Amino acid sequence: MKKIIDAFDYAGDICKAMKKGILLTTKADGKVNTMTIGWGTMGIEWGRPIFVAYVRGSRHTHEMIEKSGEFTVNTPFGELDSKILGFCGTKSGRDTDKIQELGLTLVEPLNCGVPGIMELPLTLECKVLYRMEQTLDTIPQDILDRYYPSGDFHYAYYAEIVGAYIAE
Ligand SMILES: Cc1cc2nc3c(=O)[nH]c(=O)nc-3n(C[C@H](O)[C@H](O)[C@H](O)COP(=O)(O)O)c2cc1C
Repeated sequence: MKKIIDAFDYAGDICKAMKKGILLTTKADGKVNTMTIGWGTMGIEWGRPIFVAYVRGSRHTHEMIEKSGEFTVNTPFGELDSKILGFCGTKSGRDTDKIQELGLTLVEPLNCGVPGIMELPLTLECKVLYRMEQTLDTIPQDILDRYYPSGDFHYAYYAEIVGAYIAE
């Protein structure tokens, strides 16, 4: 069962939860992977509801989004086993099946090809419209020093929110 929602009614819940971490889930070549994110932006661009995700080039998730062009954003709504965000924020889908190891329950997609996750039921379904590779010369020096001492820049994925639901 899914309760269909207006994503912006839950923007505050999603942005507050990001302080601890939420999940971003991808599917490519028949495999589902998820990673913890702490950065993200919700808003309107080109007259469409948008979620912007910031994914470093080194992440397996980066390769997955490049292939599929879509993802879901999964936010806890109520209790959450605290080990999930730590595990998904330190293990890579390149060598670990995080979904299987944690025993996460996938939820059938609605308007895209990527499932939700029952344990983090507040779900945004997102299709990438545009991606921006960050450029060194326009980032302030203090941010470069703090976040990019060895490069590994973020790609900003501007994705249209094409579905939003709470899995029940
Ligand atoms: C709380 C927290 C927030 C994170 N936020 C981000 C983020 O916004 N963008 C990012 O690229 N990595 C972020 N990470 C790191 C990734 O979750 C981590 O590198 C993960 O293992 C990548 O998995 P993957 O290789 O399967 O994509 C975060 C990690 C934690 C613990």
